[in-house]
Amino acid sequence: MTSSSNRGGAIGLAALLLAGGCSDDGPAAPAPLPPLVTDAIPAGFPARTAAARAPADNALTEARAQLGKRLFFDKRLSRTGEVACASCHRQEYAFADPDPVSRGVDGRLGQRNAPALVNLAWGESFFWDGRAATLEEQVGKPIENPDEMDLPLAEAVARVAGEDVYVKAFKDAYGGPPGEEPLRHALASFVRSIVSADSPFDRHRRGDDTSFGDAERRGEALFLTERAGCFHCHPSGMLTNEGFFNNGTYLDGGDVGRQVITGRTGDLGKFKVPGLRNIAASAPYMHDGSLATLEEVVDHYDRGGLGHFSTDPQIDELGLSPDEKADLVAFLRSLTDPAFLDDPRYRP
Ligand code: HEC
Ligand code: HEC
Repeated sequence: MTSSSNRGGAIGLAALLLAGGCSDDGPAAPAPLPPLVTDAIPAGFPARTAAARAPADNALTEARAQLGKRLFFDKRLSRTGEVACASCHRQEYAFADPDPVSRGVDGRLGQRNAPALVNLAWGESFFWDGRAATLEEQVGKPIENPDEMDLPLAEAVARVAGEDVYVKAFKDAYGGPPGEEPLRHALASFVRSIVSADSPFDRHRRGDDTSFGDAERRGEALFLTERAGCFHCHPSGMLTNEGFFNNGTYLDGGDVGRQVITGRTGDLGKFKVPGLRNIAASAPYMHDGSLATLEEVVDHYDRGGLGHFSTDPQIDELGLSPDEKADLVAFLRSLTDPAFLDDPRYRP
């Protein structure tokens, strides 16, 4: 044995000891991340935890959410191996996409703006037109959608089933081998674990106004009263009533939204009301990404939308002053939860 290989062995042993945390002088081991699944009920949220909102056949556990996270970032769930869920749903944009419409496999463009994925555990339907009733149903669609990931679910399962780390993770999470249902259920579990409730607005609701000043207060008053009337569809709390409304983004020949699902004339141009937490991070806005900034959103409502006859009667000219518009924007900005956008638990 040469002296150099001897030294290598000694260093190897020292490294092992350090990794084992036996020395106070060694580099600090990274602190383990807090769990994705907690039993907290954020103030002002419906009085059930995210876990309590999970369906009986997919109870929310840490192992399931962690497996879902691994899948969420895995590009092999797309035909070309180039697109993951996280390609279109990016944490720093509140899991939305900064492009008006997203690019899927082979650069194919979709039809709609990728929505933020925030607090969907409390959601009652999914997609802009509400065509998925549960997250378990929703998460399988983008994998098979030809404009998004374009991979049959069975093929997605076959790809991960060949990997020991997945085989173990599926066993830990669902007690069996990889399969289509556990794959969908795991992705839904991760989406359900994405919770944001620490914006200045949330703190204000808990009685802490350090980051909620006069402009935010005035904006809140506009938002929550008839003056701007936003609360009719975006009530305080979750900031969505989970309904479908035509808020004036529809013009003849455009995306008819909810009408495709129900076939009802009265549903023309209606879309799901989105919750607005972290809205400043998830531009551009609306189902088509047609409004680039929050100022444009406020102008849109101020003029009563695009003026199509199908527009909801609650959307009407507001006659807001420039100061009132600025206050509304300040309020919308107070919905940003910076710790959420940077939360290491949501990184790959
Ligand atoms: C190519 C871009 C793209 C990829 C990849 C993608 N999505 Fe989406 N996602 C979208 C778009 C666009 C919508 C809105 C489509 C619609 O409403 O018709 C959407 C909607 C959603 C919604 C509904 C949100 C709501 O508020 O109703 C969820 C949940 C979601 N995606 C999760 C996922 C998961 C999980 C994956 C990976 C399996 C994924 N997405 C992959 C673009 C993408
Ligand atoms: C009649 C119901 C209704 C009212 C009132 C209403 N909204 Fe909306 N809001 C919606 C709907 C529906 C959408 C999604 C529409 C679309 O995608 O085309 C939306 C979307 C938004 C968005 C973009 C969300 C995103 O993720 O792209 C913002 C911001 C917003 N509303 C703020 C407001 C403000 C501010 C007011 C008050 C001035 C207001 N809303 C009043 C129903 C309403």
